[in-house]
Amino acid sequence: MQQAKIILDRDFVIGEVDRYLYGSFIEHLGRAVYSGIYEPGHPDADEQGFRKDVLQLVKDLGVTIVRYPGGNFASGYNWTDGIGPRDRRPRRLELAWRSIETNEVGIDEFVDWARKAGVDVMAAVNLGTGTPQEAGYFIEYCNHPSGTYWSDLRIEYGHKDPHSIKVWCLGNEMDGPWQICHLEADDYGKKALETAKIMKWVDPEIKLVASGSSTSFMPTFPEWDRTILEYLYDHVEYISLHRYYENEGDVDDFLASFVDMDRFIRAVVATADFVKAKKRSAKSLMLSFDEWNVWYQKKLKLMPWETAPPILEDRYSLLDALVVGGLISTLINNADRVKMACLAQLVNVIAPIYTERGGRAIKQTIYHPFRLAARYGRGEALKPIVKAPTYGTRSYEEVPLVYPAATYDEASGDITVFVLNTSQDVPVKVELDFRSFDGVSFAEHIVLDGPDLHAINTFEEPDKVHPRREKRVEPMKTDVFSVTLPRLSWNVLRFRRNRDE
Ligand code: AHR
Repeated sequence: MQQAKIILDRDFVIGEVDRYLYGSFIEHLGRAVYSGIYEPGHPDADEQGFRKDVLQLVKDLGVTIVRYPGGNFASGYNWTDGIGPRDRRPRRLELAWRSIETNEVGIDEFVDWARKAGVDVMAAVNLGTGTPQEAGYFIEYCNHPSGTYWSDLRIEYGHKDPHSIKVWCLGNEMDGPWQICHLEADDYGKKALETAKIMKWVDPEIKLVASGSSTSFMPTFPEWDRTILEYLYDHVEYISLHRYYENEGDVDDFLASFVDMDRFIRAVVATADFVKAKKRSAKSLMLSFDEWNVWYQKKLKLMPWETAPPILEDRYSLLDALVVGGLISTLINNADRVKMACLAQLVNVIAPIYTERGGRAIKQTIYHPFRLAARYGRGEALKPIVKAPTYGTRSYEEVPLVYPAATYDEASGDITVFVLNTSQDVPVKVELDFRSFDGVSFAEHIVLDGPDLHAINTFEEPDKVHPRREKRVEPMKTDVFSVTLPRLSWNVLRFRRNRDE
């Protein structure tokens, strides 16, 4: 057994955990939309064709905002293809994912779905083949009340009230050579600036996300981010980051993915703050980590043109779920600057929810850490002080054996500590010290672990990997508790601050 200590102080506040930290993503890609969220004819479809079983899982997951319609798809998408009578919508060759897009679902249907799911929408405009004017028309269609061509068209098509979409991405991964009409940094900066001006003239209340580097190992990172922000700094509220991890065979390294995510965030903060200093600006830019996850099937085979082909349908193991748990902790530990994040994606495509066409829907392993964090990781993020043994990894040098994140919700008195135990061999006994809370009671210990690191949830065994309750938290002295964390486990430790009535 190894020993560790975690100290939490009410005054060591990192920042408010924004509710949008628990966002996700639906792209017109594979079966995310068609036979994911939308499948008319499915026994559980509602009157609009949305799968009620999937809607229920999305609500239970606790997602707050969903990015749409892409992703790479956004860079070739003409949003007007997806409005109006369905029988007149064009079928198109969709070039980002080599599929046939039927356009049965467009912005109006997606907003309806989002309302049913209880989530906000974060929409992306096309800065690949699209123009600044088309982006302006898109906002006008969605957000302008009435009395203009585009707003009246929305009303004619059945939506009297504006969609009121308040968060918009200025394109997607425009630094990537794979992007439809990829741009160099200066070209993107100029195009995004002119687009941002038009978009905010149409609706000054929207918040904009600049398309930052598509991953930390792009050769153009962080120069891309610096360059585009020199154009956009005064016009956007966020810069995006995207990063996917995979198990390349070294479990220690994979479990330590949170170190990489943390470094990436810090580098983007430093880059944004450099531009802030250069511009003598009083404003601090926030980060939108609007694509993150574990992702394996990155290479697509050349397939025949098809509608909703079953592509990028990764199946997640317990190990992947532990990694996702660690990554969520990194987002919480950077809650002062990361104000939005999207688990990419939501259904079928690298997703926590997996469906059968015409059949069942299940929770993948990664569903569980996300759901628990979205439910309990609220309030203020606290800075945990950790005293723990470390171990050497190939990519990240010394990594602590236990990796925590903590939140405190003043209103409810709830204190939650999320801890990843990366030890492959032994449990770790952790002393949890709530020294300044002045009266803390233990509420619950939820553990995600299991005998088989590679176990996955299937339609036959949908709960093979599932969190369980533990009862091994013991008080040591006032406001100090001892808890044993099983080897290779992700833990949710819930406490409550006692209050005088
Ligand atoms: O989420 C899958 C793809 O990953 C997105 O379309 C793209 O933005 C990223 O490269």
